[in-house]
Amino acid sequence: MASSPALSVTLEGVGRTFGDRRVLRDIELEIAAGEIVAIIGASGSGKSTLLRQVGGLDQPDVGTVTIDGTALRGVDQRTAIAFQEPRLLPWRSVARNVEVGLPRSTPRADGRARVAQLLELVQLTDAAHLRPRQISGGMAQRASLARALAREPGVLVLDEPFGALDALTRLTMQDLLLDIHAAEPATILLVTHDVDEALYLADRVVLLGAEPGYAPNSGAVVRSVITVPGQRPRDRGSSSLAHLRAQLLDGLGVSTHHPAHTF
Ligand SMILES: Nc1ncnc2c1ncn2[C@@H]1O[C@H](COP(=O)(O)OP(=O)(O)O)[C@@H](O)[C@H]1O
Ligand SMILES: [Mg+2]
Repeated sequence: MASSPALSVTLEGVGRTFGDRRVLRDIELEIAAGEIVAIIGASGSGKSTLLRQVGGLDQPDVGTVTIDGTALRGVDQRTAIAFQEPRLLPWRSVARNVEVGLPRSTPRADGRARVAQLLELVQLTDAAHLRPRQISGGMAQRASLARALAREPGVLVLDEPFGALDALTRLTMQDLLLDIHAAEPATILLVTHDVDEALYLADRVVLLGAEPGYAPNSGAVVRSVITVPGQRPRDRGSSSLAHLRAQLLDGLGVSTHHPAHTF
C-alpha cells in the first residue's frame, strides 16, 4: 500500500491565548514518528485548540510546533485532520468525497486507484457510489478517515473521531484505526473523551488540564504523560491497565470510588 513515512512532532513552549482567556500554556511534547498519542482532558481544557496548533489550523502566540524538524506555518500538506463530525459533502458520493482529500497534483488515474485502495482499507468499497445520507454514522466516519489519508499524511490528527458513534461501532472503529496505522504508517495524535479508548489505542496518554492551585484562566498544561504498557492489539479491560484507568479518571476529576460503582 502506498504510504509516506510517519513524521515526528515537537511542541516547544506552546501557548495560546484568546483575548484575555489563556487556553494553553507552556506545552512541551515530543511525539516520535509512528507513535499514537491520545490526549484527554476535561471539556473546554484546550484539547481541540492543541490539535489545531498541530494541524496548522491555528498558530500559537508563543512557542513552536515542529514537524519532522521543520517549523509549522499554517496548513501543511504533511498533516491531515479529521473531526467528530465527518463533514462530507452531501451531494458527492463516498468515493468522490474521499477524492477531495487527494493532493491537487494527483493524476486522474492515480487518484482513482488511490481512492479505490483507501475505500478498501476502510471497508467502503461496496458503498463507493452512495451519498452521505444513505450511509450510517460509522460509515461516514470511515469515509472521513479515508479522505484524511488520501494525501498520505505523515501526521494524522483526530479530534474525538469516534465520539458521536454508538459504543459497539466505536470499538470496531478503534480496531480499524489500528489496521490503518499498520497499513499506512502515520504519527497519530488523537483527542478522546474515552479513557478506555485512549488505553486501547495509544502508546502514550497525555492528560491536559489546569494546574492545581492556579487560576482557571492560567491555561492548560500537560498534567501528566502516561506510557501504556503492552503491545497492540491489547486486551480490552485488561486488569493490568486498571490502575492506569483509575489514575486517568482521577486526573479527570472522576471518582472511581463512587457508591454507584461499588458492589
Ligand atoms: N477561536 C477561539 N476564540 C476564542 N476562544 C476560543 C477559541 N477557540 C477555543 N476557545 C476557547 O478555548 C477553550 C478551550 O476550547 P477547546 O480547545 O475547544 O477545548 P476542548 O476541545 O478541550 O473541549 C474554551 O474556553 C473555548 O471557548
Ligand atoms: Mg474539543
